[in-house]
Amino acid sequence: MVVRAVRGMKDILPDEAVRWQRLERTFRTLVERAGYGEVRTPHIESTELFVREIGEDTDVVGKEMYSFQRHDDALTVRPEGTAGAARAYVQNNLAALEPVSRWYYIGPMFRAERPAKGRYRQFHQAGCEVYGDEGPACDAEMIDLCAELVQAFGVRDFVVHVNSIGSAGTRARYRDELAKYFTPMSAALSEDSQRRLATNPLRILDSKDPRDREASQGAPRVTDVLSDDDAAHLAALRRYLDELGVPYVLDPRLVRGLDYYTRTLFELKITTGELGAQDALLGGGRYDEMISHLGSKRPVPALGFAMGLERVLAVTPAGEARPGPECYLAPMLERATGPALVLGKALRQRGISCELDGRGQSLKAMLRRASAMKARLAVLLGEEELERGEVTLKDLERHEQTRAPLATAVEVALAMLASSGAAAAGSAGSA
Ligand code: HAM
Repeated sequence: MVVRAVRGMKDILPDEAVRWQRLERTFRTLVERAGYGEVRTPHIESTELFVREIGEDTDVVGKEMYSFQRHDDALTVRPEGTAGAARAYVQNNLAALEPVSRWYYIGPMFRAERPAKGRYRQFHQAGCEVYGDEGPACDAEMIDLCAELVQAFGVRDFVVHVNSIGSAGTRARYRDELAKYFTPMSAALSEDSQRRLATNPLRILDSKDPRDREASQGAPRVTDVLSDDDAAHLAALRRYLDELGVPYVLDPRLVRGLDYYTRTLFELKITTGELGAQDALLGGGRYDEMISHLGSKRPVPALGFAMGLERVLAVTPAGEARPGPECYLAPMLERATGPALVLGKALRQRGISCELDGRGQSLKAMLRRASAMKARLAVLLGEEELERGEVTLKDLERHEQTRAPLATAVEVALAMLASSGAAAAGSAGSA
């Protein structure tokens, strides 16, 4: 039987990987311009880290983690990047080194969710975290950066949702208010939400079950129970978003599925329906308590977001295909293989991308292959060329060919590529 990839985990083959590289390049360029530096943390952490920081009563920790025991250690393959980055921030004592740190990461995350369109068990996030700045300007700037990022990827139809869950005290009060509100109608809730009522009533608000949606209609709004400080933080964030010209909706139902958040929450959702229920391209918020919770003596506020790269790719245009090699080398007989290998190496040393086809096929088959790969130049070494110490260089775009001595073949190839490149650029310019 053929061994297949694990359900919900996908291969990214080279033609598709070009799209990933393009996306990652744009992400890096924009976030580095905003002062973020890359952090690479382990893909495996202590299970305890996620249980403590994400929260025992969340779906992620309760149902979705890939956890295992190895020797004496309880370990988990990371379901998200925030907790690991915060652990690294505390462990490496960054708070003592700089007042504000801006980090970003790109990489795979693992959650044993039910696979669906836009929902995988191994998926990729690109995320940013800022430590050390509690002001709402930081939140506004990050939300603006998120909108800028998805626009740079070519996404047009999206809405930014913003909410505040208040600081820790407000959040606890709001949980109590919700428990009070939902308890008398608990029989009308879904089974999951009946359980959530005891463990995490906030989560009832973002349930997709129609019974829970109906029951949530008259639920108290978090924005009504915010403390004065929380309300002022939210008001300032909104003012800055307006000044930045970022359209958003204030969404009091936005609660997000991770327990570490305080104050600002946001999500960016696509509105085209292409991804069904998986419409969040990215999500984030403040988590001002986590750094202390992880043992830092100094309290350090924090804020971040992560975007799902599979989801972004699913809603953006494919873009250009993987480019072919500049040069395709075709030795047509065994004796020509050695000189072709040497020529290939010399071309690559001069910066020319070059592939050698060593299968020894007919001229026709080799040229067909060169065109299929979209090579610009085919360099042929047959019987006749070998006898004369020459090569044939064929420009596959202009359909011209020439002979050159093997000794000068690199220079001739370079000149032909430069002139055909210039021609291509010229015709593109006049188009
Ligand atoms: P999250 O909302 O769980 O937040 O995930 C962020 C994004 O990752 C989602 O909006 C979605 O695009 C993508 N995503 C999540 N799960 C899957 C999945 N199973 N398949 C495909 N894509 C998925 C976090 O993970 C937080 N760490 C974000 C954050 C950073 N908060 C503060 N800093």
